Amino acid sequence: MILVTGGAGFIGSNFVLDWVASTGEAVLNLDKLTYAGNLETLESLAGDARHTFVQGDIVDRALLDGLLAAHRPRAIVHFAAESHVDRSIHGPGEFVRTNIEGTFTLLEAARGYWSGLDGAARDGFRFLHVSTDEVYGTLGAKDAAFTEDHPYAPNSPYSASKAASDHLVRAWHHTYGLPVVTTNCSNNYGPYQFPEKLIPLMIVNALAGKGLPVYGDGMQVRDWLYVTDHCAAIRAVLEGGRLGETYNIGGWNEMPNINIVHAICRALNDLRPDAAGDYERLVTYVTDRPGHDRRYAIDASKIERELGWRPSETFETGLRKTIEWYLSNPQWVGNVQSGAYREWVAKHYTS
Ligand code: NAD
Ligand code: DAU
Repeated sequence: MILVTGGAGFIGSNFVLDWVASTGEAVLNLDKLTYAGNLETLESLAGDARHTFVQGDIVDRALLDGLLAAHRPRAIVHFAAESHVDRSIHGPGEFVRTNIEGTFTLLEAARGYWSGLDGAARDGFRFLHVSTDEVYGTLGAKDAAFTEDHPYAPNSPYSASKAASDHLVRAWHHTYGLPVVTTNCSNNYGPYQFPEKLIPLMIVNALAGKGLPVYGDGMQVRDWLYVTDHCAAIRAVLEGGRLGETYNIGGWNEMPNINIVHAICRALNDLRPDAAGDYERLVTYVTDRPGHDRRYAIDASKIERELGWRPSETFETGLRKTIEWYLSNPQWVGNVQSGAYREWVAKHYTS
């Protein structure tokens, strides 16, 4: 079995669903269930012996030691983090605690557990750290895309905390020999994303007739990847990634934010026309995010060359699937908006 941290969040839960469906291997899912954790997403695995959920904090060393000793995973896939840049600007403390101290604690627990393994179990053990392209900082309009050798230059409390965690992971390999691999991925989108991030926020606000807040001039560029393509890339790196290496993951799909907002409005005009008129009427330019990075772009040649991974969705197909998913799942969206999703543990996971 594998241990997944943060498996009730957006990418982690997509990964757990995808992992169980594609490999059948069991998952021990450790998640603190902050506002971003939502067990309703994993409803289809309730009662499935291949999914064990534990509510807990990656900063809790005793909990980690106990789980590793009891479940003896062959790998750790580490998603747990505070992930939203805007929240990191308003309250950086939790980002330092979870992303840096939490990764440190998990590395130390993993090192203790791995040191006690021998033979094939020791050789085969992996610690996969899920990170972000934001650690590289910002690009000018004509700069080449980020390669794995691009210098780190994080600009937000979020990206600085992720950069620190990447450095810890690297050091635990070089100093202690812990068998790690790190992935640095671009912006994900898809089903089950909390509507604080650009794409789901625009969809749910439009459907509610609320403003679509575009930061600054809307010409900031991100490189978008459909979430299940990210999950497949992580599986490929876990299986074949070289120890101590980092792998950039991206969709070769750079787009200014305002174009995304227009694309969402067009799709909604088509799929769910509003009697009040074109959704474009809701676009509202608002004050820019402080320190806003202008452009990210990922060069994903290394993972393609070494591991044969390629994204399977284009932005057009992925965005369409995403919008259709939000339209078809009003209960999930409603429970997130009302806060009812937080009652899920009490209702379904306590005896
Ligand atoms: P998310 O915010 O949706 O989910 C994070 C999960 O971690 C939540 O379920 C939360 O409850 C859990 N968590 C938070 N603090 C914890 C703690 N102390 N102990 C245990 N669990 C804790 O995040 P996401 O968008 O799914 O991102 C997952 C990972 O992927 C993060 O490490 C993020 O940096 C990275 N990443 C995200 C993106 C993206 O576009 N969303 C892109 C590249 C990399
Ligand atoms: O690049 C990978 C990163 O992508 C991940 O590491 C982060 O965890 C993830 O949150 C995401 O960070 P961003 O800041 O790029 O994502 P966000 O969805 O918050 O914003 C995307 C862009 O849209 C960004 O330029 C800010 C802008 N934006 C965002 C929101 C929420 C708006 O213009 N209006 C908004 O309301």
